[in-house]
Amino acid sequence: MTDDSSLTRHRETAADGPAPGAAAPEPLLALRDLRVVIDGLHILHGVDLDVAPTGVTALLGRNGAGKTTTAKAIMGLVPRTGNLLFDGVELAGLPTHLVVRQGIGYAPEDRGIFAGLTVAENLRLAERDADPAYDLVHELFPELRKRARQAAGTLSGGQQQMVAIGRTLLNRNRLIIADEPTKGLAPKIVSEVAEVLARAAERVPILLVEQNLALVRRLAGRCTVLADGRTVHRGDTADLLADEEASRRLLGVGSRRASVADVQSGAGEPARPVESATEVTST
Ligand SMILES: Nc1ncnc2c1ncn2[C@@H]1O[C@H](COP(=O)(O)OP(=O)(O)OP(=O)(O)O)[C@@H](O)[C@H]1O
Ligand SMILES: [Mg+2]
Repeated sequence: MTDDSSLTRHRETAADGPAPGAAAPEPLLALRDLRVVIDGLHILHGVDLDVAPTGVTALLGRNGAGKTTTAKAIMGLVPRTGNLLFDGVELAGLPTHLVVRQGIGYAPEDRGIFAGLTVAENLRLAERDADPAYDLVHELFPELRKRARQAAGTLSGGQQQMVAIGRTLLNRNRLIIADEPTKGLAPKIVSEVAEVLARAAERVPILLVEQNLALVRRLAGRCTVLADGRTVHRGDTADLLADEEASRRLLGVGSRRASVADVQSGAGEPARPVESATEVTST
């Protein structure tokens, strides 16, 4: 499904260009007409996305919309064309190691944690800077210091996310991309991860790929929605989630249950499977 009309509508209103007298901050990362073709398959064909220089920007969309591919394209993990301007530097021609060197940290969908290694070993493997910021990581996540010698595979899902996000903070990154950090986690753990992300976002802006709308509502001021490999909506998260019809159309679920309290109770979950949209919205 594509919905260019909502993108157009949005463009006519708030998304592009500051209103007179109300200067919008320059995006830290601006994607324009991002395209990805893999084995002849057009996976992305027109992703536009602005990541704000502070706080959390959400990247939303149903399963298979192209969120992970967008994250991978930013990191140079898949071939891409288009403009990917990061703080004045064009990423489009850069291989992954040079994207990383620009200061972009990536916490992938599968977390990429070595289960058989300890917390300390997992962090050590992520060291890139000559002077890794252990003070910051331990200040934000004291749990990681306490559990330094524990095998990462024995941590809770929330603690594993601390390792995944902690790794990105160890190096002085200027942007963190977190791909579905709450995927597969129990509701109680989701609220733990929300805390982890909120703490991290005070220090470094985050592009958050997420399907848990309660979490998104709590953390992200702005959002971009993808469908079928292209951007179909950009705007304020609160506005989108307040609009039951638009949420249903763009995200496949109703947004009424996605309240802040739901993050704690888990009642806002699941926002993810399209197949269960009826079940989610009918209760
Ligand atoms: N390497 C690949 N080869 C072929 N098809 C791919 C490849 N990577 C992704 N796709 C397809 O591209 C589409 C977008 O995938 P992507 O993983 O980016 O979606 P997503 O929005 O992250 O979905 P999810 O919510 O399930 O994580 C899907 O239809 C997927 O099957
Ligand atoms: Mg994905």
